[in-house]
Amino acid sequence: MPFVAASPRDRLILALDVASVTEAERIVEETRGEVGVYKIGYRLVFAGGLALAERLVAAGEKVFLDVKLLDIDNTVAEGIESILALGVDWVTLHAYPKAMRAAVAVRDRASHRRTKLLGVTVLTSMDDADVAAAGYAGRVEELVLARAKDAAAAGMDGIVCSPAEAARLRASVGPDLVLVTPGVRPAGADAGDQKRVMTPAEAMRAGSDLLVVGRPILAAADRRGAARAIVEEIAGAAVER
Ligand code: C5P
Repeated sequence: MPFVAASPRDRLILALDVASVTEAERIVEETRGEVGVYKIGYRLVFAGGLALAERLVAAGEKVFLDVKLLDIDNTVAEGIESILALGVDWVTLHAYPKAMRAAVAVRDRASHRRTKLLGVTVLTSMDDADVAAAGYAGRVEELVLARAKDAAAAGMDGIVCSPAEAARLRASVGPDLVLVTPGVRPAGADAGDQKRVMTPAEAMRAGSDLLVVGRPILAAADRRGAARAIVEEIAGAAVER
């Protein structure tokens, strides 16, 4: 079934890329009600972020645990088992077929289906030369497409991809795979190190279901207003779909 958002706000994932749980909690307080999902990645995970994830879940917030797992099947399965117990809504793993199948098997056996599994196709920091240097034949876009198809075949809920790839992937994998896209910048915002950016409306029109945004909100003087403006843009583009 295609991803259904109860409201445009549910499509906005705020990346809590900050150094401390205290800072993250302040940002959650500032943006509560304007953001659908809070993303906790490496930086916070290794600095008290898992306890924060549990507190946010208990407070009724949706949490995206961006841990990009990859290991032998058994270790991935056991890791997913522990993550399911946290009650987060989303978790990422690298889109390797065996790892994805191991994760899906655990998820399918679980008593609750709250946690959805996202495959990271190819990191957006990788270009053709990086992929070749890592020992893969073929171009980035071919690898992205192959991994997206593998994710769908494995029974994953969705994938993380560049908004620049979203339209082509949507056409290839059909309507059901959830497409989550970082690299989103409101018009006029600083791109930072993101190379291929799209505005929230462009990303939505390209077929993204959920948008990951970090610095354009984190660095704003009015974070609440910045989040609200992005949600309004999402709402405008969502009605066109
Ligand atoms: O600050 P910014 O909006 O660029 O943050 C984007 C977030 O999405 C960061 O947490 C980054 O790690 C994550 N991400 C990304 N590109 C990927 C996968 C994840 O930018 N391919």
